[in-house]
Amino acid sequence: YLIAPITNDDIESLLCFLRKFFFRDEPLNRCVGLLDEQPTSVDFDKYCVETIPDGFSLKAVSPSGDIIGVCLNGVVNRSDDKEEMECIDPKFRITQDLIDKIDIEADIFGRFPDVDKLIEIRVVSVDEAYRGQGIAKALLDETKRIACENGFQMIKTDATSHFTALAVSKLGYKCIYTLNYADYKDEDGKVIFTPEAPHTCVKTLVYQLN
Ligand code: ACO
Repeated sequence: YLIAPITNDDIESLLCFLRKFFFRDEPLNRCVGLLDEQPTSVDFDKYCVETIPDGFSLKAVSPSGDIIGVCLNGVVNRSDDKEEMECIDPKFRITQDLIDKIDIEADIFGRFPDVDKLIEIRVVSVDEAYRGQGIAKALLDETKRIACENGFQMIKTDATSHFTALAVSKLGYKCIYTLNYADYKDEDGKVIFTPEAPHTCVKTLVYQLN
């Protein structure tokens, strides 16, 4: 396989890939049954496609030209206005509310006063048939290379999957924030996400580049 940037020409095949894998098997999407009653989530489609113009999202492509893995990377600047994304899909809102809370509590820019711009890894997903062969690692390595080349000071990710947290920890990322799913509750005190083992928490992990 080869690793290449994702461009606007990839939108259809990217969305097709995400609908087949990430929207179904990422632990939180699985929990809320993101695609149980709908062929896609318009909001999640938009969230993913919006990373493309930033220019740092990557795909792994098989010799026959199929997308077999993606790493969707967005750029975040200290000066960015944090605007809440408008949502049509209530299931996307449930996961986005969690991401918003993590963002505030992890407080990257407060914690790292020298960091002005960073790459945020928003989605990592590998075709089920190709897992355990180092494709996520290759996508993460290339993300590090291009982040370095383009003068970013940090890479961050909110790892909702135990395996992503494990993979990036092995690449030297440091965990700066953990939220146990069992402690994340609605107004009535009911736990919102109950993912299957071994996914017990979401972690914010960062890698500092110099
Ligand atoms: N069991 C144990 N460890 C695993 C497993 C597994 N099933 N899968 C990955 N790992 C760990 C290992 O530590 C491995 O390191 P090693 O080579 O030293 O053993 C490391 O992850 C990297 O493995 P890769 O082979 O590069 O990972 P892979 O290509 O299989 O992709 C991914 C991992 C993306 C998490 C894949 O399982 C997947 O698509 N899962 C569903 C979607 C998902 O949950 N995505 C992440 C959500 S968080 C986010 O997107 C920011």
